[in-house]
Amino acid sequence: MKHSLVIAFAVIILLPACAQNKKEMKSLVAFYSATGTTKAAAEHLAQQHDATLWEIEAAEPYTTADLDWRNENSRSSIEMKDPEARPTIKQCTNITPYDTIYIGFPIWWGICPRIINSWIDNNLPQLEDKTLIPFATSGSSGIEDAESYLRKTYPDLNWQKGLLLNKR
Ligand SMILES: Cc1cc2nc3c(=O)[nH]c(=O)nc-3n(C[C@H](O)[C@H](O)[C@H](O)COP(=O)(O)O)c2cc1C
Repeated sequence: MKHSLVIAFAVIILLPACAQNKKEMKSLVAFYSATGTTKAAAEHLAQQHDATLWEIEAAEPYTTADLDWRNENSRSSIEMKDPEARPTIKQCTNITPYDTIYIGFPIWWGICPRIINSWIDNNLPQLEDKTLIPFATSGSSGIEDAESYLRKTYPDLNWQKGLLLNKR
């Protein structure tokens, strides 16, 4: 009788506690994409890492005119000239379950679009205990400037080396 009580205690109390300690590492691929290129890269990355996919969307979507980098008065040009610009995001992301977060974006003027700042700001300070891996697509630029911009802007976050996922 005594023995069966001890065994029942082990099964009910100790086993679930051990299982919790052996928590599975979870990854999230959160990305912004204006014209679909980064979205395709994000989908591939999420498949490779068995990660959850999350699209960061602007509350007010960017039109073709908004994306015209040749026009210095277009929405994207105005935002990129203003380091404090924080376009509003459509929906919050629940990042609690994740240990590693891949953050993807198209390169705009050498760095990340300001909507990525909006997303990071919205998720601080929770992001502080996560491993963050930036990734990007571009016309030709590398990811290095975007990476150092992110490290400099958010020095308390745990940034890993970035990935440029342009198709070869
Ligand atoms: C406003 C704007 C600025 C851009 N600036 C750069 C740049 O500085 N360097 C570069 O190589 N490509 C630049 N691009 C091209 C995009 O990074 C590239 O087309 C990217 O793959 C688009 O990704 P998406 O389809 O996910 O939006 C720019 C595009 C836009 C719309």
